[in-house]
Formats: sequence, structure tokens, C-alpha cells
Amino acid sequence: MKTEVYLGDSREILKKFPDGYFNLIVTSPPYADARNRHYDSIIPDHFPAFMVSFHEQLWRVLADDGSFVLNIKDKVVDGIRHRYVWKTIEDLGKLGWRCVDDYLWVKPNAMPGRWKNRLRDEWEYCFHMTKAKCFAMYQETVKKPIGVWAEKRLAKLTGKSNVRHNSENNSGFGRDLRNWKEKKTVLPGNTVSVPLVGKNMGHPAVFPVGLPEFFIKLFTKPDDWVLDPFAGSGSTGIAGELLGRNVVLIDNKLEYVEVIKNRLYRLNSDSERLLYIGKNVSNFSKPSHLDSKLRISV
Ligand SMILES: C[S@@+](CC[C@H](N)C(=O)[O-])C[C@H]1O[C@@H](n2cnc3c(N)ncnc32)[C@H](O)[C@@H]1O
Repeated sequence: MKTEVYLGDSREILKKFPDGYFNLIVTSPPYADARNRHYDSIIPDHFPAFMVSFHEQLWRVLADDGSFVLNIKDKVVDGIRHRYVWKTIEDLGKLGWRCVDDYLWVKPNAMPGRWKNRLRDEWEYCFHMTKAKCFAMYQETVKKPIGVWAEKRLAKLTGKSNVRHNSENNSGFGRDLRNWKEKKTVLPGNTVSVPLVGKNMGHPAVFPVGLPEFFIKLFTKPDDWVLDPFAGSGSTGIAGELLGRNVVLIDNKLEYVEVIKNRLYRLNSDSERLLYIGKNVSNFSKPSHLDSKLRISV
């Protein structure tokens, strides 16, 4: 297993990789008009074209049965939600990406506050896109306990509950509660609840390790290859390391590549496995500011 970290524009770096190399791309690009002080940001109207400029390489390096999970959030402009995120997904759809589902990352610790016209902003999209109708998915890995409700609800099944119930609108979906009687676990819904991480991670827009972890479990198996083309502080790499996947992380800012290196090195000091491939950065065996002011934790 390997974790490789590259410094550079992912559109260029990815040209070094063969077709179909990755089983999963999971990433969070720079959000429109955000973090201008830290890294390049894009105005909302230009955002779809920005994402589309990555399409050619992302499509090429993803395996035919692979998945692409794009974590992104729209923005309020002049009091209303700007829909550049929807437009981005539509444009990617026109290029062949099949948007199978919209997952939501729910933040139970979202910033409290008071707004005249809206409530707390406590979720972000994670769009699940694939190249093909059939794709790898390992649902068993994300099952959760069925919950206490089941014991009561399934104890005495009578009447309609005791037969298969077909959907009344002919959607083809039906349910048979009898099948759940002995079950201890169920599939989760398509929301992923993971708290935001605290500050001082050395990067302004870190997502919690639990977010890529969920999608890595769901769409890859051990030893598969995972890509984060906007790696930031390397949260996807940490999740991949913990789950025994091979990971490639790319960021175009030297400062963040150093953050990634230090974070990974803290987790696993086996420099044979943690490779740094690129220029202008010391290699993994000598992480630069491991004990510096950056307080980086998993
Ligand atoms: C929202 S942040 C990712 C944060 C990451 N998910 C984490 O947990 O730390 C987006 C990152 O994309 C990087 N970036 C922007 N344009 C890039 C490009 N063309 N190639 C590679 N990285 C890029 C920025 O430097 C920034 O660190």
C-alpha cells in the first residue's frame, strides 16, 4: 500500500497516470468566492467551467466501474442561493457523468447564529457520479445497527404489515417488514453526519476524516486506489491510510503539501509507504515542520 503526495495542478499531474487507474475520486474543490486569501478562488458564474476543465483527466483516470464523489456547497449571493453547483453537475452530466445520487454531509456542530431570512447552514452536497450504470459499491461496509424502534415495530406484525406491500404508485418499490425481523443492521440513509473539525489544522477548509472515510468504505475495497485532486490538508489520505487503501493526493500549494506530509507522518512514520513525488519539498523521511506551530491532528 502507498500514499503518494504530489505538488502541482492536478490537471497536469494526472497526465502521468494510466487510464482507469483509480477506483474512487473523492474531493472538495475550492468553493466559489471563498478563501481568496488562502488559495485561488473562482467567481460563482465561472465555477462550472472551472470544474469542467478537470473533466478530461478525471474521467480518463477513473476505472469504468469507479465513482467520483464531489463535496461542494453553493453560496448565497444577493440573498438567494446561487445555483452554480447545480449548473456544474448539469454540465458534468452533459459530458457523460451519471449523477447517481446526492448525498448530504450534515454537520451536527454547524456554527450557531441568527439570520433574518434563513436558519443555520448545516449541510453540504456530496454528489455521487459514475461513468457507467454498473459500478462498484460495498453497501455491507456502511451498515449501521437497526435501532431500538425495530424491536417494538416488528414484534407483532399483523394485517398489511404481515404481507408484502407494493408501492401504490407503481414505482416498483415495495417492502416486506417480515424480512427485517431477525436483522440486526440496516443500510444507512444518504446523509452522512460528521462534525466539523476544529481550527488550527494548517488549512482553512478541512473536511473531517469521517467524510471521505464513509465514501472510501462504500465505493472501494482494501488495496484499491483513491484520488483526491484537491487534497488540501490531506484528510482523504488520512482516511485512506486508516482503511488500508492506496491514495494519491494532489494540491497546487506547497504550504498544503507540507501540511499533508506532516499529518501523514504523524499517523504512519513508515517513509517507505509514504512517498512524496514532486519538486521543491523535502521527502517524507525528513518532514519539515513536524513540531512547529501547526497543530495538526487526525
Ligand atoms: C477546499 S480545499 C480542500 C480541503 C481538503 N478537503 C481538506 O480536508 O483539507 C481545496 C484545495 O484545492 C487546492 N487546489 C486549487 N486548485 C487546484 C488545482 N488546480 N490543482 C490541485 N489543487 C488545487 C487548493 O490549494 C486547496 O487546498
